[in-house]
Amino acid sequence: MQGKLMRRLILAAMVLSPAVYAQSPIVIKFSHVVAADTPKGMAAERFKQLAEKATRGKVRVDIYPDSKLYKDREELEALQLGAVQMLAPSLAKFGPLGIKEFEAFDIPFLFPDKQALHAVTEGRAGRSLLRKLEPKGIIGLAYWDNGFKVISANRPVKTPADMRGLKFRIQASKVLDAQTRALGASPQVTNFAEVYQALKTGAADATENPPSNLLTQRMFEVQKYITVTNHGYLGYAVIVNKKFWESLPADIRFELEAAMKAATRYANDIAQQENDQALDALKAMPGLQVYYPGRSEKAEWQRALMPVQREMELRVGADLLRDINRETQ
Ligand code: LMR
Repeated sequence: MQGKLMRRLILAAMVLSPAVYAQSPIVIKFSHVVAADTPKGMAAERFKQLAEKATRGKVRVDIYPDSKLYKDREELEALQLGAVQMLAPSLAKFGPLGIKEFEAFDIPFLFPDKQALHAVTEGRAGRSLLRKLEPKGIIGLAYWDNGFKVISANRPVKTPADMRGLKFRIQASKVLDAQTRALGASPQVTNFAEVYQALKTGAADATENPPSNLLTQRMFEVQKYITVTNHGYLGYAVIVNKKFWESLPADIRFELEAAMKAATRYANDIAQQENDQALDALKAMPGLQVYYPGRSEKAEWQRALMPVQREMELRVGADLLRDINRETQ
């Protein structure tokens, strides 16, 4: 009996000993849905490098890009269950979790440029939005940019009128639903992993995304026309499982937070350039036409989409919209 107890104690001591601790790193599974060579994919990789270096092998970050582990909705459930520890879903994907306010970022023409946008994400409104995740068992660590969206379609779309009747793939955001309806198109909510197939089979005729996603998902193979509308923003919240994060030793969490800060600076530095290069690559594709709306056409897009802000005021919160409008002025 005594021998048995002793064996158990030795085993417990081994589990807690620094030598064994060093051999079995804390693993952060970081799942995301886009390609590795996108702003989000590259920033995730940068976080991995910085985090592993700073923690000297005590933490390992395993990245699963391209919906390899989970698709859009599933990955949020997996995070809540602790099957993965870190994600960076687009801000358009938090509605199904019961947090509608992030959809404010989807409102067309709300942010004149990235500077205005960063005034929100790095300010009071951005921080208070991240805190809304906590009752869901999630901690929001950072905002990462992707960029402003273009429209792609299987027929020319120069003005809002050309959108009428198109089946338009969107993310699961009510603001994007309202945006699509305001243009007379029919919203089709589709997982990102299934967009290519939807466009190929005609389940959707058209969609929106920053150029980097269009390029890396090879959507140019199944779309003939791109219109550079820059009508709305696409960005991410980097989030972690709260229980996991709070269980980390304080020194490790500190190192990881510093790594995340540096990865965030990197993400927001490269996003514009990555999208500019992707748009150049798309322009060079034979059989794909890239159209820039002229001044009066731009005004038409704005006129058609401005009412969405008022329409969605109740959903995203009038106070938040007021804060955003104040911070972007
Ligand atoms: C989409 O689903 O269209 C994008 O949000 C994917 C992503 O994460 O950039």
